[in-house]
Amino acid sequence: MAELEQEVAQKFPPAADFAAQANWNDPTIYETAAADPDAFWAGQAEQLVWSRKWDTVSEWNPPHAKWFLGGQLNVSVNCLDRHVEGGRADKAAIVFEGEPGDTKTYTYAELHQEVCKFANVLQSQGVQRGDRVTIYLPMIPEAAIAMLACARIGAPHSVVFGGFSADSLRERIHDSGSKLLITADGGWRRGGVVKLKEAADQALAGETTIEHVIVVNRTGKPEETPWTAGRDLWWHELASDASDQNEAVALDSEDLLFILYTSGSTGKPKGIAHTTGGYLTGATTTCKYIFDLKDDDVYWCTADVGWITGHSYVVYGPLSNGATVFMYEGAPDWPARDRFWELIEKHKITILYTAPTAIRAFMKWGTEWPEKHDLSSLRLLGSVGEPINPEAWLWYHKNVGGERCPIVDTWWQTETGAIMITPLPGISATKPASASRPFPGVSALVVDEKGDPLPEGGEGVGLLVITKPWPSMLRTLWGDDARYKEVYWSKFADKGYYFAGDGAKRDAEGDYWLLGRVDDVMNVAGHRVSTMEVESALVDHPSVAEAAVIGKAHDIKGQAISAFVTLKEGIEPSPELMAELKAHVAKKIGAICRPDDLFLTAELPKTRSGKIMRRLLRDIAEGRALGDTTTLADPSVVSSLKDKYTDES
Ligand code: WTA
Repeated sequence: MAELEQEVAQKFPPAADFAAQANWNDPTIYETAAADPDAFWAGQAEQLVWSRKWDTVSEWNPPHAKWFLGGQLNVSVNCLDRHVEGGRADKAAIVFEGEPGDTKTYTYAELHQEVCKFANVLQSQGVQRGDRVTIYLPMIPEAAIAMLACARIGAPHSVVFGGFSADSLRERIHDSGSKLLITADGGWRRGGVVKLKEAADQALAGETTIEHVIVVNRTGKPEETPWTAGRDLWWHELASDASDQNEAVALDSEDLLFILYTSGSTGKPKGIAHTTGGYLTGATTTCKYIFDLKDDDVYWCTADVGWITGHSYVVYGPLSNGATVFMYEGAPDWPARDRFWELIEKHKITILYTAPTAIRAFMKWGTEWPEKHDLSSLRLLGSVGEPINPEAWLWYHKNVGGERCPIVDTWWQTETGAIMITPLPGISATKPASASRPFPGVSALVVDEKGDPLPEGGEGVGLLVITKPWPSMLRTLWGDDARYKEVYWSKFADKGYYFAGDGAKRDAEGDYWLLGRVDDVMNVAGHRVSTMEVESALVDHPSVAEAAVIGKAHDIKGQAISAFVTLKEGIEPSPELMAELKAHVAKKIGAICRPDDLFLTAELPKTRSGKIMRRLLRDIAEGRALGDTTTLADPSVVSSLKDKYTDES
């Protein structure tokens, strides 16, 4: 224990040889950027290819920002054409390995061709600039190709994670008003096939805005794929007939690039809207400097393209930098618990960016798995998605990074578009579990409930806010600007701060330590899940009268879902019913939202004003002594609930 404390208090400055070669190694970058953030970001935007240069760097009509106004560019040109023309035509852009072990490499020239072909396919199906396209695919290169093809023709995409259910897909298609759906017959996961096309068909049953469905033949059994003639089309058939020349549309900097749905504190997912110039500037810059990208790197971000991390750090950030991106379809423990380490050795991965939940699972599985493989190609590690605990950080450092790789613990959100708080690997002395400090050009503060900052130089805990607009910030919530204002900008409206929804500590040296959400959003294995969304799914079941959901501490997933449910009058509790309720949630939202624990109770603890006391439920679920119950309407509810809980756990 004492040893761990000592290690945790340790600082890890960059090794001299790493710092010497790093893309950034001069700490004055922080001051330079802070002195004139617009000039800093404009300098970064210059790295991109613009077909028309901007007139104005930024415009801020709180809470609406615009960046690089008057500028025109195309994201796919920046990710492809400029590299093909600039000497990287034969460089690998995407190296893919499927779960069954099939591999495929696309050079920049080949990826460019595939994207052009698919852009032509989209146009031939009537997709025009401004039309939305929903993408529901496994982690296969076609996901990146589809995204880039949408970007090429100016059709905003809405990628829906392949693990989401038919109902979730339907809701997102409906909200975005998508015209076209791109999916696959299935994807491989732990040796089985996830039948995406079946889910897609269910999502489209009844009324829908979708006119056509383009289907990737991933699992190789086209005859077993359910098919609606006239509506469904095979990707490979359309692409084989398409020309590989497609002129990219010059888009306005503020044209919508994509919508990505994420969970909020109400049941309805929020469609985060990102635009073109600012987003690409943010993704490109952060990717280059935080991961210290070099031309000979083989970069692997393990996130699925269904999440923002997959958008910014599997597709747009690395490809815009001309990097070689490794992409893997399947699970880390298939066929064995060393799959990641095997892949790193085989593909000579140099940069690995993954999530604490995965690291904690690796820790549990034991060091014998990484030890079986040569991981010496790695030179930098990253972490994202949730707070990393010091033990996991140190394990990652030692057993994956061989004590030589810097670790960048990166804090950001779907809304921020790009990494916001992070170490810079050639500059920062890292501390296990601290995300260091705001990226150059980003202005953050830790404030109290009133929005007043912590005293300068002192240590303290509060709420994280961003005080100035940044290029890759969300512009609004798709179709709901009022909610955009309410969720992010109303809490500190007088100060004009963006409220992130996270608690943070700032230490005496000015380093930030992220402490997790302060709202009703859970973080389950790095995925944002709203308590309300799970509650609505439970209440949707005919036997359920009321439900309350909390995230309880879990040593691998960070948080696990605990649900407290009261049944309707006359419904008999049974183990079968409990299993059915869990399955109902998985079916309604997706398997990641299946509750770990489910407790049937006669009543839920409520305040006199009728609010469910989640804090008490958390105390109960985590087996802690109960906190203050004086505001409870009926204190006996808690004791009976506690007994019940103890009975069933
Ligand atoms: C959490 C994922 C601590 C945080 C990029 C945030 C983190 C939410 C970190 C956003 C980190 C992300 N340390 N917490 N390094 N990174 N989070 O939108 O609570 O899926 O608000 O974006 O994840 O999740 P999202």
